[in-house]
Order: sequence, then C-alpha cells, then structure tokens
Amino acid sequence: MNEQRSRSPEQLREELLHAARQVRNNAYVPYSGFKVGVAIRLAGNGELVSGCNVENVSYGATVCAERNAVFTALGRYGVNAVKGQIEELLLVTDADPPAVPCALCLQVLQEFAGPRLPIHIADLTGIRRTTTLGEMLPQPFSSFER
Ligand code: THU
Repeated sequence: MNEQRSRSPEQLREELLHAARQVRNNAYVPYSGFKVGVAIRLAGNGELVSGCNVENVSYGATVCAERNAVFTALGRYGVNAVKGQIEELLLVTDADPPAVPCALCLQVLQEFAGPRLPIHIADLTGIRRTTTLGEMLPQPFSSFER
C-alpha cells in the first residue's frame, strides 16, 4: 500500500488545504491585495503542486494561482504526469462567499482535466463547497477544426 492510499480522502483534502494556504502566503498582489492559493493533487505519486497569483504593473500580465499551479506541474513532471492525472484541485481565498476559479483558468484546466475533476472552494477555515470542472465550465472551447 503506497502512502497516498493509506490516507483517507479527508486527510488528502486537509493536505491540499494546507498546501494551498501555505502558497497563498507567497501571492504577489501589490495591485489587488487579493491573495489566492491553489493546490492540485496528481495521480501516480500523489504529488501536491501549488501555485499563487502573481500580479504585474501591466495588469493583463497577471497570472492566476490556478494556472501557476498547473504550469508548475507541467514544468516539473511533464505532460504525461499532468494530462488526465489531476485528481483534485483546491482554491483558497479569504473572500466571503469564497471565490471560484475564473473562466480563463477553467479553460486551462479543461486542457488537462476532464469534467469530473473535483474543485474544492475554500476559505481560510476550510472547504466551503465542492464542485466539478464540468459544472463550472459546461461548454468549454474544445476545437478549432474547420
Ligand atoms: N485570481 C486568481 O488567482 N485566480 C482566479 O481564478 C481569479 C483571480 C487573482 C488574479 C489577481 O491577482 C487577483 O486574483 C484579483 O483578480
């Protein structure tokens, strides 16, 4: 039994929350002051990869926490370890009601995950609700074939 299997779903989610809260502290948000932390769990080795939002004085150059987490995983482990391998994602903010992933990030998640991907929406005290990618982005852009 590997390490991942020996932990309950609740423990795995607790670890995700911890990782997301930790990385949220590193958010670079001099313009909005709004810190976001995201952690994803990959199948296989059960690795957690996290990301925070990074803003820029040219506002459009800002990158959201979700995309930083996914792109970090890509850079670290390669596409085979990421595409179809994201088991769950947790996003944490201090917003009330808790913030959900923006549409741009949902479309990026769509590139690497299926509609059943669980998305946990958390505030600093814990997970407030769980939804799925398919629920949040029911009609993703998926083809440019002519
Ligand atoms: N932000 C994220 O990190 N993720 C989202 O899904 C929505 C917005 C960031 C971008 C910016 O740094 C701040 O939140 C305010 O929009």
